[in-house]
Parts: sequence; structure tokens; C-alpha cells
Amino acid sequence: MPTRPTIEKARELGFCFGVRRAIKIIEKAAREHRGISTLGPIVHNRLVVARLNDMGINVVNDPSHGASPQLLVQIQERQLEIIDTTCPTVRSAQKAVKKLAESGFGIVIFGESDHPEVKGLLGWAENKAIATLNGEDLANIVLPNRLGILSQTTQSRLQFSEFVKEVISTVFPRVKEIRIVNTLCEETQKRQAAAVELARKSDVMIVVGGRNSANTQRLAEVCSPIVETHLIETAAEIEKSWLPGKKCIGITAGASTPDEAIEEVIARLKELAGGN
Ligand code: F3S
Repeated sequence: MPTRPTIEKARELGFCFGVRRAIKIIEKAAREHRGISTLGPIVHNRLVVARLNDMGINVVNDPSHGASPQLLVQIQERQLEIIDTTCPTVRSAQKAVKKLAESGFGIVIFGESDHPEVKGLLGWAENKAIATLNGEDLANIVLPNRLGILSQTTQSRLQFSEFVKEVISTVFPRVKEIRIVNTLCEETQKRQAAAVELARKSDVMIVVGGRNSANTQRLAEVCSPIVETHLIETAAEIEKSWLPGKKCIGITAGASTPDEAIEEVIARLKELAGGN
């Protein structure tokens, strides 16, 4: 009889403090007020958004994850009350961008320009920032004397440091001063490190989380060079063919993945593979 695989969770996985905090704030608000809308999904996870919807919280189609100051002014002009659930780590990145812009720095943000948080950061930079994943993009643009470099909060540490090196070699000596601000989220770094550690001793990794969640995608990205990796949103997506011959199944989950989704995945794996 084949031996049952071990199913192991990463040391750090699932909801981060920023997501727990945001959900707590919005749930309290829903108990006290009617007609609450979030600017874009409060977290990139359909299960969480559906549960909040059941509480009467709907989503309007604009970016959340750290709105730009311009967007906040537009909302205030419409006499709407704002409940700010922006994660303190994202808020720190916004403050860093603002400070650099006010001090006359040009700013380069490591991140996808269409990511909601990056759009917010660009807004705080008063048109003095660009966002890119490729440091060589700075080769042909006119730069001010002083350049600030920072990252969208959930990028990987390794990729950000590679990017910093690339920017420095591209722009030096065209600029006089380069200031690097480490805006990376520690919670994300811990989840990525724990995922890598588990991937090294697993035969397959299952990453649970929203496909539209950047930090979930990044967990899959850091695991896949090490071991067979599958990103799923729900337990229903697990395929039986992933399991034969696997002795250790590793589980990790994005910062916006609720505990129930993780437990459902584990229960389904046990059902399919008889794990313990
Ligand atoms: Fe904040 Fe980091 Fe979570 S930026 S929302 S604590 S992933």
C-alpha cells in the first residue's frame, strides 16, 4: 500500500497584519454605517470580497491599496466619508515617495505601473516618478541630479536588489546622488522565505490565493524554480494527477488568503491522497 504523504504548511502563510487590520476596520464600519463601498476590492481575494459583500459592503471600480491624494480629494468633493484602511507599510512607502518628491528627487519605483499600489505611489510623487521592472529603462531618459529608488511593498527582496544594481549601473555617473529607500514589506519577505524553505524539502508546492494577488503570484514565482508548484484559488482546483509519488506536499498562501481557504485545501488533499 502506498505511504500517505505528509502535508506541511509554511511557517508563515496567509493573512498578514495589514489585511487583518483592513478587514477589522471595514467590518466595524459595516456594523456602524450603511452604504459602504470599497475603492476596488479591499484585498485581492474573491472569497473575502464575497463575504464582505454579504455584509452589505460593495466594491466600486477604482483602485484601492493606497489611493493617490488626487483621488482622495475627488471623494471628499463628493461629500463622502472616507474610512482609510491603507496598510501602515504602504502608507510608509507613500510618505517616502512624497518626501523624496518634495526634496527635489526624481523617483523610480520598482513595480508594475498598472498595479493599484504603484498607481497610488505615482500619485503621491507629484509627477516626479516612473514605475518599471527594468532598470535599463532609465538609459534614455533625462534625469535630475538626485534619484530616489524604492519598491512596491510586496516585491521580492532579491529582485529589488538586482533592480537597484541595474539602475545604479545604468544611471551612474549621470546623477550626483542616489537614495535607496527600503519600502519592502517584512510580512511578505517572511512568507517568501518560509515558502522557499518549505519548497526545498517538498515534492510539490501548492500556493493558495487570488490569481490577481501580486504577493500570491510572487510566492508561486519563488517556489517554481525549486519544485513543481501549482497556484490555486480554491480546493476545487486541485488535480489528482499532481499527487502520485509525492511524499511531502508543501502549502503556502498569499497575504490575502483566508484561513478557511487554506484549511479547505488541506482537507481536500487529505481526501485525495490520504495525507496526515
Ligand atoms: Fe501591508 Fe504587507 Fe500585508 S504591505 S497589506 S502587511 S502584505
